[in-house]
Amino acid sequence: MKKILELISEEVMSAFEKAGYDKAAGKVSVSNRPDLCEYQCNGAMALAKALKTAPINIAGAVAENLKDSKVFSEVNAVMPGFINLNINPDFLSQYVAEMSGDDKFGFEPAAKPLKIMLDYGGPNVAKALHVGHLRSGVIGDAINRICKYMGHETISDIHLGDWGTPMGLIMHELSLRKPNLPYFDDSYTGEYPSEPPFTVADLEEIYPTASKKSKEDEEYKAKAQEATFKLQSGVRGYRALWNHIINVSVTDMRRIYDKLGVHFDLWNGESSVHDVIPGMVKYMKDGGYAYISEGALVVDVKEDTDTKEMPPCIILKSDGASLYNTTDLATIMVRKEKYNPDRFIYLTDKRQDLYFEQVFRCAHKTKLVSEDTNLAHVGFGTMNGKDGKPFKTRDGGVMRLESLMNDINEATYAKIKENRDMSEEDAKRISEIVGRAALRYGDLSNIPAKDYIFDMDRFISFEGNSGPYILYTIVRIKSILEKFVQTGKKVEDCVISGIDNASEKELMKELTYFSQTIESAYEELAPSKICAFIYDLANAFNSFYHETKILSEEDAAKQGSYIALINLTKKVLETCIGMLGFEAPERM
Ligand code: ARG
Repeated sequence: MKKILELISEEVMSAFEKAGYDKAAGKVSVSNRPDLCEYQCNGAMALAKALKTAPINIAGAVAENLKDSKVFSEVNAVMPGFINLNINPDFLSQYVAEMSGDDKFGFEPAAKPLKIMLDYGGPNVAKALHVGHLRSGVIGDAINRICKYMGHETISDIHLGDWGTPMGLIMHELSLRKPNLPYFDDSYTGEYPSEPPFTVADLEEIYPTASKKSKEDEEYKAKAQEATFKLQSGVRGYRALWNHIINVSVTDMRRIYDKLGVHFDLWNGESSVHDVIPGMVKYMKDGGYAYISEGALVVDVKEDTDTKEMPPCIILKSDGASLYNTTDLATIMVRKEKYNPDRFIYLTDKRQDLYFEQVFRCAHKTKLVSEDTNLAHVGFGTMNGKDGKPFKTRDGGVMRLESLMNDINEATYAKIKENRDMSEEDAKRISEIVGRAALRYGDLSNIPAKDYIFDMDRFISFEGNSGPYILYTIVRIKSILEKFVQTGKKVEDCVISGIDNASEKELMKELTYFSQTIESAYEELAPSKICAFIYDLANAFNSFYHETKILSEEDAAKQGSYIALINLTKKVLETCIGMLGFEAPERM
């Protein structure tokens, strides 16, 4: 289906044409003066300048041509030359009726489906997931779902930090604590134990301890570096121990990401490209892209049009060691070879904006990917506490992601218990569903690049711009539909026919924005667009609900039309929250 603004614009464009003007001037937008009209066209102003005539003359002629239009119920040319438009209720309700007959509510998937590689999450093994990991996971996962709804094929990869110095630190610390483990015995040739010699809690203590020691003790640091080297050069015991670290850590991460509803197709790590780095370096040297500067191997990525500083991309440090850049470039190379994506999308903190610009330029310049491969980075802001600084626990420590989720679920649980009489079990299950919505919506409703303040009360509120409010609206519709069915009637038999009141018209108008919302959420890689849309839609539904008697309506056709309309509203809301990565409970 064409988008509503397209249809309306086409109508106005042909009126311009009929009046002898350039039809391009007929583009219509939603009115920024809803007190005066629903839509507006400002094209007469620009035209008038070029034609040296008064805009109102043009607007008047166009309005005259729209007098008998079936699309509008009212068309006014007003000074100095605006065309104010109100949509014809019959046209609108027919459009919405058509939406309700389509699986995707009239949304047209991408004409040319792409293969899109998504890189989000990016946690480092052996460290607890903390609040800083929330945004990459949640925004990345939502973008993934939006891409899929658009009709694109996606592959998501968590890109674990599983290879560098932290691994050596843990191994060295462990070798001091448990020197008798077979992993550290060079002469050991037997099989290594299948049980890991530590728990995830041990790891989370070992790493920071080791990291602290290495900063204070040069010898300790050197030993840890040696351990990293042994791991990377394939020493058997170190590899076996490393596998334990990965398994223990990844098992725990999976559990937490599952709770959050964040999924990955691939659980690859930086380690997975270790072996291809030498080949890539050779390729970059042979191709004449990389050269030695101050001992390091670099690729220039500066362009003439740059207005800001653009340092070269360092491929190898002067001691020959690889860096974060090196791994990312090698990963691009491997992903290209294995999956050949049309587009790559990365999610990280916005402090990595410049870094990704360098890496992307380098990948294009060195032809790791073709010129038309789109490399995109979504840099997001920080979740802050009420003091405006990165969110911390009450005693100033790093807040674990799981603790944050538990706190939200507990607060939601208390709220549900307070509002409703429900069994322990139901209240617990539902508080987890609502808690996830509170957290994900609370985060996603912010424009990605902006910092925002975490406010528990606002996140879990059943009113206002929050996840629970959206769920509450869906639950309310479900309950009306249930009562309707209990009277022996069928929802599937209901059809949208006509409009009776102003709030019904508002609700229909909101629904028509579904397609353009999804499209712009994809184009701008901003799930926040969907949040803003469903908030408006939920508000429009609730106004309609308060002003309209639905279940007690005696006119069967009218009632059927209401029911079909709210059923469509429910389905659109559910589809949208599905893209945001949460769902509604049956009641709350
Ligand atoms: N592990 C990295 C960090 O903690 C994030 C990885 C992001 N993804 C990437 N391809 N660089 O900062």
